[in-house]
Amino acid sequence: MIAIRTLDAAESWAAIPALADLLVEAVDAGASVSFMAPLDFGDAVAFWTEIAGSVAAGKRILIVAEQANRLVGTVLVDLVPVPNQNHRAEIGKLIVALEVRRHGVGKRLMVAAEKAATAAGRTLLTLDTRAGDKPEKLYRSMGWTEFGRVPRYARASNGTLEETVFFYKELAVASDMAAE
Ligand SMILES: CC(C)(COP(=O)(O)OP(=O)(O)OC[C@H]1O[C@@H](n2cnc3c(N)ncnc32)[C@H](O)[C@@H]1OP(=O)(O)O)[C@@H](O)C(=O)NCCC(=O)NCCS
Repeated sequence: MIAIRTLDAAESWAAIPALADLLVEAVDAGASVSFMAPLDFGDAVAFWTEIAGSVAAGKRILIVAEQANRLVGTVLVDLVPVPNQNHRAEIGKLIVALEVRRHGVGKRLMVAAEKAATAAGRTLLTLDTRAGDKPEKLYRSMGWTEFGRVPRYARASNGTLEETVFFYKELAVASDMAAE
């Protein structure tokens, strides 16, 4: 049984080592999630420490997947802070532990991220992913729309610059459109 839930600030601080393990595993297995392989555990801890701080400040929502109290997945909802885009959020760091992939956890995390964004009043979501990666299929199947590609956007582990695909999804457009 894998449970999906949002962590509060105290839980986010406590989860830093487990989140760092998850990030290191994913990066070292070739995932394109901001870091280069091999990823130093201390660098991963530093990253999640900053994230926990932003959760405490109400700037981000941190969602995790847990199996028997062990952290096996995560996704972040970044609440765009600028006043003229306070209807917008960015989704990032969707990661599932290698041993539980292809069991629907990634999709459940994305569903939870969309619900959390809606609950936070955000109606327009964006994300990006390396072109040709597995998540592209996942995002399209969940109603996300591609809005462009940028060549040579991010480095692969071997240093090669690779193309990135950008997606958006509108959640509850009705109220925003009524306000226009
Ligand atoms: C992307 C990731 C989160 C998917 O997690 P997951 O739990 O395996 O995903 P799911 O089981 O929910 O799969 C959902 C859909 O994604 C697609 N998908 C996921 N993994 C796939 C794979 N290895 N091959 C082909 N399609 C895949 C499929 O469409 C799948 O639906 P299906 O199983 O009905 O065919 C996981 O592979 C991961 O952590 N990758 C490394 C980090 C990463 O790249 N994150 C995305 C950054 S943008």
